[in-house]
Amino acid sequence: MADTASSVQSHYAAEDLVARILGVLREEGYDTDSLSVETLNLTDQLHDGGLGATQAQADLAGVSEGLRVLDAGCGIGGAARYLAHAHGCQVQAIDLTREFVDAAIALTELCGLSDRITFRQGSVTDLPFDDQSFDLVWSQNVSMNVEDKAKLFAEAYRVLVPGGRFALSHITAGPGGEPYYPLPWARRADYSFLGSEKEILDRLAGAGFRILEIRDEIIAPGGGRPPKPLAGSVVMGADMRERAINSKRSTEERRIKDMLVLAERPA
Ligand SMILES: C[S@@+](CC[C@H](N)C(=O)[O-])C[C@H]1O[C@@H](n2cnc3c(N)ncnc32)[C@H](O)[C@@H]1O
Repeated sequence: MADTASSVQSHYAAEDLVARILGVLREEGYDTDSLSVETLNLTDQLHDGGLGATQAQADLAGVSEGLRVLDAGCGIGGAARYLAHAHGCQVQAIDLTREFVDAAIALTELCGLSDRITFRQGSVTDLPFDDQSFDLVWSQNVSMNVEDKAKLFAEAYRVLVPGGRFALSHITAGPGGEPYYPLPWARRADYSFLGSEKEILDRLAGAGFRILEIRDEIIAPGGGRPPKPLAGSVVMGADMRERAINSKRSTEERRIKDMLVLAERPA
């Protein structure tokens, strides 16, 4: 059986991402010659809830101008661009999937944000960053692909300044039994690592974090309805519809459950 890193990379690998994203946006009538972050955010949020879920996480994390943020598992850079553009954060971002990192760099250049975000390929379990170099570590729907959560959380803790925060959205195992595969983050169970809510919280505490808040409903702040995401299958693969249906059914049957946690490295 392939090791987890190669399974994850082949799960997300996709060709010609930038051209295909721009194609979808043009078909929908958007001007791709002067691309805005708002327009890109319709296609670059690789998680359930789209931009609304990102806004909810930013709200929980209390993001503010100038914050040094690490986006750990950044996908094609959707949250990184949102945080840099809407909140004036300075973002460094890392992801395991080479095609996603390349697309993230190209899309960020196209909307003129390259001076505020840097992207690199690597693993969240072995971060190429100095100790205490971030105010916020942001990880959105990544940890389901990470078996060694102790390492992930230890690395997040290490790179945070004392008093810095870790905003984590994760999908936990519910009491209803095994979820239905394929799912958005894994087509098979051998590279899906959910854990119960208690296990995740215990692991965070074990890494030294203090839990500040836990939310199990992820709703955009202000009650406004965020724009509907476009063509998830363009980035996530042609079978995304089936995977999204399995995710919904697994949630309804309490096999999986959303979890959003804000934790702090104590000062
Ligand atoms: C469901 S996508 C979410 C991407 C992004 N956070 C978002 O919400 O748009 C999961 C991402 O986690 C990345 N990933 C999985 N395991 C990783 C690891 N060990 N280190 C870095 N990235 C990882 C994948 O490459 C993929 O881009």
